[in-house]
Amino acid sequence: MVPMTAAAPAILPRVTPPSPTMLSEYLLAEMARAGEAAELPLHRRLYEALRRALLDGKLVAGDRLPSSRDLAHDLALSRNTVVAALGQLTVEGYLVSHVGSGTYVHDHVPQRATRQWAPMAVPAARLSARGEALTQRHRASDLEIQPFVPGAADFSAFPVALWQRLQNKHWRAAYPEMLDYNDSGGYGPLRRAVADYLRVFRSVRLDADQVLITSGTQQSLELCAHLLADHGDTVWLEDPAYWGAVKAFTATGLAIHPVAVDDEGIAPGEADEQRPPRLIYVTPSHQYPTGAVMSLARRQQLLASASRCNAWVLEDDYDSEFRFSGPPISSLEGLDEEGRVLYMGTFSKVLYPGLKLGYLVVPKTLVHAFKQAHYDLNRPGQMPLQAALAEFIEMGHFASALRRARQTYAERRQLLVDALAPVLSSGVGRIHGAAQGLHLCLRLPGHADDRAIAAQAAREGLTVRPLSAYCLQRQDLRGLAIGYGYAAPEAIQRHGAQLCELLGKTASCSSK
Ligand SMILES: Cc1ncc(COP(=O)(O)O)c(C=O)c1O
Repeated sequence: MVPMTAAAPAILPRVTPPSPTMLSEYLLAEMARAGEAAELPLHRRLYEALRRALLDGKLVAGDRLPSSRDLAHDLALSRNTVVAALGQLTVEGYLVSHVGSGTYVHDHVPQRATRQWAPMAVPAARLSARGEALTQRHRASDLEIQPFVPGAADFSAFPVALWQRLQNKHWRAAYPEMLDYNDSGGYGPLRRAVADYLRVFRSVRLDADQVLITSGTQQSLELCAHLLADHGDTVWLEDPAYWGAVKAFTATGLAIHPVAVDDEGIAPGEADEQRPPRLIYVTPSHQYPTGAVMSLARRQQLLASASRCNAWVLEDDYDSEFRFSGPPISSLEGLDEEGRVLYMGTFSKVLYPGLKLGYLVVPKTLVHAFKQAHYDLNRPGQMPLQAALAEFIEMGHFASALRRARQTYAERRQLLVDALAPVLSSGVGRIHGAAQGLHLCLRLPGHADDRAIAAQAAREGLTVRPLSAYCLQRQDLRGLAIGYGYAAPEAIQRHGAQLCELLGKTASCSSK
C-alpha cells in the first residue's frame, strides 16, 4: 500500500482532473519512451512517467490519483509495481495519501490554471550567430577514419608498453604539486626538451621559457586569438585553409580575410593590405591542404607585410617532421627579426592525437602574459603525462619514433603515387606540393566536380576531401587531399587502384 501521511491535502483540485483513461494513455506512452532510453525496471518507468506528469503540470496540486488497483489494471501492471512507484513519489514529497480517501498530488507541486495534454513542445535548439557559423562547413566528424583520410597518422607502431612503463613510473613518483593545475607554462623538463628539439631541427631561436605546453594546436590558436586580437579584428587566412584554424578564429570572433595561396605559398597583395590584419595564420613548411612550400622570397614578403600592418604571424608547423627528400625546411620564425612570429607544433602526428599535447613558442615579451592567460583560461595540468613525455624525448624514443614514422610514410606516399600513375599519366590529375607530411594534394582540372568525386569515393568506403571544400573565397581550385598515413601498404595499392578507376570515370566525365 501507498504509505500514509497525516497531513490533509492543502489544495483541492481547481482545474478539471484528467480522466483515468487520459492519464493511463499518457503514462503508457511515457513508460514506453523511458523504456527505449534505458533498461529500467517497470516500477521505475512508472515512477518516471508519473514524475514527468507532475513536473509538466499534467497532474497538479490536489489531484486525486486513481487507486493503485485501477492503475494496475489500466496499465496492465502488477499492483506491487504501482505501489512501489507511488510509494517512491510519496517519499519524495510529490504525493500524499490518506487512509480511506486515496492518494493526492501534494500541495508542494505547483497549481496550474490549465493542463496541457498534448505533448510539450520541445524548444527549438537555437544557436548563437557564432554557433551557427561554427557548425557550418567543415566538421571534424567529416574526417571519418577510412582509407585516405587526410592528416591521419598510423598509431599501430606506437610503443605502447614503453609508454605505459614511463607513465607508471611518473605516476608512482608524482608529488602532490604534480596533481595540481600548472601555472608555469608546462612541465619544465618537457619545455626544455621541446626547445632543444626546435632549436636543432626547426631553426627556431628560443629559450625554454618561451615554450608553453598546450593541449594542441587548437588551444594554441585560441590563446593567440584571445590575447593578441580583439573581437572583430581581421585575421588573414590562407585560401584554401585549414578548417581547424577557421573554427578557432570564428569562435574567437575575428573577421577572416582569405588570401590566395599559389605554388609558393600565401601571396598577399596591396589590396589585402587594405584589410590590415592583427593576425596572419600560415602553414609555410607545408601549406594545408595544397602542400605548397613557402619560398624564401614569399617569407620575406610576408614578414615585411606583417611589419607594415603591425600584425602577429602565427606559424603552424603541423607536419614538417615528415619531409621525405632534401633537408628540413627551416621555420619562418627563424627569419623573423622583429619578434612577431608565434610558432606552434603538435605531438598529434608523431605520437598520437588523443595525447592532446602541443606547444606554442611566444616572443619573450609575451611570455608572462601568455602563461598567466593560459592558466586563467585553460587551467592546464596533466603533469605526470608531461613528465612521461619529457623522458620519452630525453631517452631518444621520440627521435626513433620519428625516424620510423618518416620511413613508413615515405614508402606509403610512394605507393600512393605509383597507384595513381594512370591518372597522372593521362593528364587527369597532377600532384601538387612537396613530398612531405601525411597527405598529398592531387590537382584536377578546373571543371572537375571534386565534391561529387569525393562523395562517390565516400560511398565506396574511401575518405578523400575535395580541395574546393577547403576554399574560403576562391572558385578556381579543384582537386583532392588524399591521406596515405593511416592506410596499410596493401590497402593503399588496392584502394589506390579503386580511386584511379573512379577518377578515370568521374573526372573525365565532368571535363566533357
Ligand atoms: C594544419 C594543421 N594544423 C594542426 C593540426 C592538428 O593539431 P592538433 O591535433 O594539435 O590540434 C592539423 C591536423 O590535421 C592540421 O592539419
